[in-house]
Amino acid sequence: MRVPIIAGNWKMHKLPEEAVALCRDLIPRLGKLDDREVVLCPPFTALPAVGEAIRGTKLSLGAQNVFYEISGAYTGEVAPPMLKALGVKYVIIGHSERRQYFGETDEMVNRKMQAALDHGLLPIVCVGETLEQREAGITESLVKSQIEQGFKGIAEGYAKEIVVAYEPVWAIGTGKTATAEEANRVIKVIRETLAGIYGNATAAAMRIQYGGSVKPGNMAELMGQPEIDGALVGGASLDAVSFARIVRYDD
Ligand code: 13P
Repeated sequence: MRVPIIAGNWKMHKLPEEAVALCRDLIPRLGKLDDREVVLCPPFTALPAVGEAIRGTKLSLGAQNVFYEISGAYTGEVAPPMLKALGVKYVIIGHSERRQYFGETDEMVNRKMQAALDHGLLPIVCVGETLEQREAGITESLVKSQIEQGFKGIAEGYAKEIVVAYEPVWAIGTGKTATAEEANRVIKVIRETLAGIYGNATAAAMRIQYGGSVKPGNMAELMGQPEIDGALVGGASLDAVSFARIVRYDD
């Protein structure tokens, strides 16, 4: 059984004290969390404060990006051991905003995945098509290629620990969600692609999230789909009431 994983990607929001206030509001609303995993991904600058605020809870800490070198003259970048030292467990890699605004390529995603894994961080690797790609009918071939290139050379021993997030770019922050069936269909293609690399048993054990305008009102339906193992939540994760309802699949 795959344990569902719900991650809040706070993007470039929240000062440290605001982040702590959100954690304090959120934690009592979440319930026991025995059968699901919840990850908070604040900006780098709030990682220490959020790490402290969630200490002793079942919540995990995630970062939104990482560089692929371990140290050196790379002004402005953050290396895997630096995140590890802050208690970070997961790291989002290849988010469409990184691909779109910061020129991240599949090759960089691949290098970041390898570096993160080699230093004990678990990637949440994002794939997904733009509206133009969707309208051109290339969604499936595109996500297949993003997966094949992103996972190139990544050892099978690591694969089960890696989380994939399918985030159609046109659904991010737009209020437009892929229908649960559509999301399930593309996620099935992603799982088949992973099976082509690692075999059926490993692919069946890997968790694949949906992301893009996830709200309390659509989470239960998404989670009712057989291939969807959780969500990567942007805007709605900035509000304690909304995020807690998403975590509980509470419409
Ligand atoms: P929204 O939930 O705001 O659409 O963002 C999705 C996302 O990009 C999460 O990584």
